[in-house]
Amino acid sequence: MILVVDFGSQTAHLIGRRLRELGVEVEYSYPEDSLETAKKQKPSGIILSGGPASVYESGAPMVSKKIFGIDIPILGICYGCQLMTHLLGGEVKAGNKEYGPENLKLKSIKGIFSLPAKEFSVYMSHGDTVMSLAKGFDVVGSTKSVKYAAIVNEKQKYFGVQFHLEAFHTKFGTEILKNFATEICREKLNPLKLDPEKIIKSIKEQVGDKKVIAAVSGGVDSTVASYLVGKAIGKNLIPVYVESGLMRPDTEKRVRYIFNNLVKANLVVIQAKPLFMKALKGITDPEQKRKTIGKLYVDLFDGIAKKNKDANFLAQGTIYSDVIESKGSKHASHIKSHHNVGGLPKDIKFELLEPLRHYYKDEVRVLGRMTGLPEDIVNQQPFPGPGFAVRIRGEVTEQRLSQVVQADQIVLEEIKSAGLYDDVFQCFAVMSGAYSTAVKGDGRVFAEVVAVRAYESEDIMTSEVAKIPYNVLQKISSRIVNEVPNVSRVVYDITTKPPATMEWE
Ligand code: XMP
Repeated sequence: MILVVDFGSQTAHLIGRRLRELGVEVEYSYPEDSLETAKKQKPSGIILSGGPASVYESGAPMVSKKIFGIDIPILGICYGCQLMTHLLGGEVKAGNKEYGPENLKLKSIKGIFSLPAKEFSVYMSHGDTVMSLAKGFDVVGSTKSVKYAAIVNEKQKYFGVQFHLEAFHTKFGTEILKNFATEICREKLNPLKLDPEKIIKSIKEQVGDKKVIAAVSGGVDSTVASYLVGKAIGKNLIPVYVESGLMRPDTEKRVRYIFNNLVKANLVVIQAKPLFMKALKGITDPEQKRKTIGKLYVDLFDGIAKKNKDANFLAQGTIYSDVIESKGSKHASHIKSHHNVGGLPKDIKFELLEPLRHYYKDEVRVLGRMTGLPEDIVNQQPFPGPGFAVRIRGEVTEQRLSQVVQADQIVLEEIKSAGLYDDVFQCFAVMSGAYSTAVKGDGRVFAEVVAVRAYESEDIMTSEVAKIPYNVLQKISSRIVNEVPNVSRVVYDITTKPPATMEWE
């Protein structure tokens, strides 16, 4: 088993995921418990994750220095690498910040860096860097601005990387992990399989003969989650779809199809657009928006629960990236309140049933396929729970809602007709909240700028811009400025995640 010490990086749990995919058993511990855990559980190796803190910050999470004296190989990633250097006598400083892809050059290809290439792209997300090495360490790889991007202490079997090797967009990251696990920690690889039957069995055990209300949105996550719950408890499942007016226009039809035909359940549809529009009036702060929406959902579900006295559970399609980004890990920064996690009030009366809480999007798709859901459902692009509200930067008004719905439809139509829908993870339009001048029919117009975003991602934690051909982008732009009223121009958002999240709010 390899022990991952979680310092709160947004991608800390991807380390475990990559190892799990390789077939290595993983345990997690917080820094303060890590020495104890390592002594007790005797892992074959320890990985110190990244994290948002700086090693000199008061209250920065630390491991005991004694962890370096128990004869276990250690790999430090980003903050983990800085902390290892700091504790072993090297120097770490603020500066040389890098966010996004960088080119790593290796001096030589050996040990855990026995890789198919000497130069490749890695994902960076750091403020501090190692400025001088601790005794016994050598530098084996650098980027343009970070000299000590990959370091090795061969004798002690300590390794450090400044980049996030767990991020999907780091080329050969998994290979480095594999080399660490097999060559250094001497782990035997025994890949695990996704097992929907096991999930169904555990839902049965957790729920017994109680009823479950399921929040469904027609999206992949809530559909797969409810489908699994339906398989476990049959008619005791009450799927509820809230028509908030913030979802794509065909969503209600789609949900009716899924829950009347594919999952035989008694679907409840609540028409609540006026309620949502009223509650959102005047709100411009993204977090307040998310929390307002989250609370409305829960109040509505509470109403349903009162009509179904023996409903004790609320099932949700929460997946692992939602949990992490809503501060599921002790030392992680709070990024945004995903309405189905952080937006829920503390006094919620239901017990939460979240069968997909430990899975990433691509794993959820595989689980959906394995249980028999059709491809057009499991393969659809994700859509955020708070809907178009988080794609309208600023106040949600009827006019801006109708603009974003039209612009979104144009983006989808053009991406589909160019045959690119399956190649992009998500594509959509955003009312940017910025205004600019345009000339329409010889007259001056001062109107809102629409941003278009399309990107590729594997597991939501990192992304790169989708390379949409210019002619497709031009067609999208031309249709939006012509067909959507009061739009002055269209811009294409090419920012990677990190640093930018996928949604604008
Ligand atoms: P961010 O913007 O956090 O988005 O990089 C990551 C993915 O999550 C979706 N998203 C949400 N999904 N409830 C959801 O169910 C939410 O509150 C929420 N916010 C963002 C987003 O569309 C992207 O796929």
